[in-house]
Amino acid sequence: MKPDMLTIFFSFSLFSILGWMLEVSYRSVRDKRFVNPGLLRGPYLPLYGVGALVLTVTVYSLQGFPVPVKAVSYFFVTTLLELISGLVAQHFFAVTLWDYSDQSYNYHGHICLKFSIYWVILAFAFEHLILPCFQGLTTILPAALQWSFAGVVIPLMFIDFITVAIRHFLHLTPPEKKQLKRQFTATAKPLLELPEVKSLAQYEHHRGKTRLDHVTEVALLSFLWGQRLSLDGEAIIRGALLHDLFYYDWLREGPRLHGFRHHNIALRNAHKTTSLSKKEEDIIKKHMWPLTVVPPRYMESWVVSLVDTFCSARDYLNIRRNRKTQKQTEYELAQETADIKR
Ligand SMILES: [Fe+2]
Ligand SMILES: [Fe+2]
Repeated sequence: MKPDMLTIFFSFSLFSILGWMLEVSYRSVRDKRFVNPGLLRGPYLPLYGVGALVLTVTVYSLQGFPVPVKAVSYFFVTTLLELISGLVAQHFFAVTLWDYSDQSYNYHGHICLKFSIYWVILAFAFEHLILPCFQGLTTILPAALQWSFAGVVIPLMFIDFITVAIRHFLHLTPPEKKQLKRQFTATAKPLLELPEVKSLAQYEHHRGKTRLDHVTEVALLSFLWGQRLSLDGEAIIRGALLHDLFYYDWLREGPRLHGFRHHNIALRNAHKTTSLSKKEEDIIKKHMWPLTVVPPRYMESWVVSLVDTFCSARDYLNIRRNRKTQKQTEYELAQETADIKR
């Protein structure tokens, strides 16, 4: 089998899905309920995709070697892969994907002798049954179909992984959440009470979401990111709340080339509304980068620009989330304000 890019991508995506099916079957039968294994939400386990690639290389490298040498090599390769995956999941995502603590000869629950022997059996099955079938499949299936399959599965897995990583990064304990909400509301409330900012509630911004919803959402999410990166929270909140301060329905009216011009309009309006720090100015002025050409000067501006892009893309991709109305935003802020008074 030629180790070309198509074979690598197709093998990785196909075995990630087949591995998921194997794990789902095993765990669901064992637990007598549906169990979606792994870190990601979708029907794939990248560990099996990586495992298939590593095993393919191992199988080809050991061609002609006696069975005991292959067995020992498969044992170490699969066990090492399982150990690395378990450690990565635990240390970077605080998730225990499997736990062999109750098994004999285990190492911190990540690996154990019994399952390492299972992996050796599976590796031999891979060498003699699965790999030849896969090779047969790659000769039958047109290359375009293989590319299409990998082209759908791999980006989906990537987006899934990024979503999980972001969620983990932004995960807050209840006391942290309370503290950050207080900080956010204390800074946001004076601006949200200004008639100029309040008026943004009358403009639809993205698919059923008002501009006030949008700027509040961008401010909150940017603030959370900013806290994780030890940035200036006040500048982020104020800059983000004012970043789209323009008073027209950009879908139906306003200046031509709105995308290239509204950051300057928002900045002018923001100057008329309140006093701005250099960082707040930069956040508003550069939030449309790269359309603004000159890149953001501060980390706070980068965060708001990225979060703004993310929120806008999500608004168009996920219609269900857009049902959050202005009423709900007002309700949430009222709740947060009540929290502060307590
Ligand atoms: Fe904007
Ligand atoms: Fe925006």
